[in-house]
Amino acid sequence: MRRLSTGIPELDNLIAGGIPEGFLIALTGEPGTGKTILCMHFISQGLKEGSGCIYVTTEEDRDSIVNQAEQFNLGFEDGLKKGKLIVIDALTGSGDWSIDTLDVEKLVSKIIEAKKVLGYSHARLVIDSLSAFWLDKPAMARRYSYSIKRILSRWNLTILATSQYAITTADAFGFGVEHIADGIIRFRRIVRGGVLHRYLIVEKMRQTPHSLYMYEIAIVDGKGLTLIRPAAIRIEDTSIPKAVKDMVKRSREKVEQEVG
Ligand SMILES: Nc1ncnc2c1ncn2[C@@H]1O[C@H](COP(=O)(O)OP(=O)(O)OP(=O)(O)O)[C@@H](O)[C@H]1O
Ligand SMILES: [Mg+2]
Repeated sequence: MRRLSTGIPELDNLIAGGIPEGFLIALTGEPGTGKTILCMHFISQGLKEGSGCIYVTTEEDRDSIVNQAEQFNLGFEDGLKKGKLIVIDALTGSGDWSIDTLDVEKLVSKIIEAKKVLGYSHARLVIDSLSAFWLDKPAMARRYSYSIKRILSRWNLTILATSQYAITTADAFGFGVEHIADGIIRFRRIVRGGVLHRYLIVEKMRQTPHSLYMYEIAIVDGKGLTLIRPAAIRIEDTSIPKAVKDMVKRSREKVEQEVG
């Protein structure tokens, strides 16, 4: 089995060398925890290896993604210039590579169009974020993610897809991609002693003897995301009170009943 480097060597070490080629990996977590930056490292590594790369952005426009990546010297401008990187802007819908609505069919056909331009050899794909495509219909999350995975599985791609969590409840927006994903990397945030700490843990990675430890991470200007050390942390620090969980569960059931 070929494994692809994530672009972060310490993270590769946690997953037996890298992500198995052809996998779809979900990156989940609260805002500002590092999901987008990990996606950028994954793309940058692909560019270094000479692979074609596709980055779909729903939360930031194309310029914002390129500028952020340049702050970490991840070679996005160069990749765009050489035609090895295609950034599909699903936020503003502007430019040659864009979609004007958050529609799953449009997303898939635009990705396939980009893949054809890049050629038939293996390519890396990021969808940041995938959960944006069902924000207004969370009950569709699982069906949409399944259909995306099924169609794209024929196109010789390895995929990272981000999924957001609500900051107040740490609840996922429509559990969908987590179930169909071949792997899950979960990001977390905690303010302790007045300081923001960020962590990641590999929650699932099929066909891989992966680490079970949560790692503290750092995001460093000019460099990007790095792993610091296994976290000295108790589960109570990251979980939410039962009363809040029950409230969230009831409201999700209500939404699912309404949406059908
Ligand atoms: N140049 C930089 N130097 C250091 N830290 C930075 C730099 N640029 C961004 N960051 C940090 O990275 C954070 C953004 O991380 P990222 O975009 O990966 O979050 P995310 O998990 O994708 O969040 P969201 O769900 O909102 O998209 C910023 O809030 C900031 O703390
Ligand atoms: Mg992001």
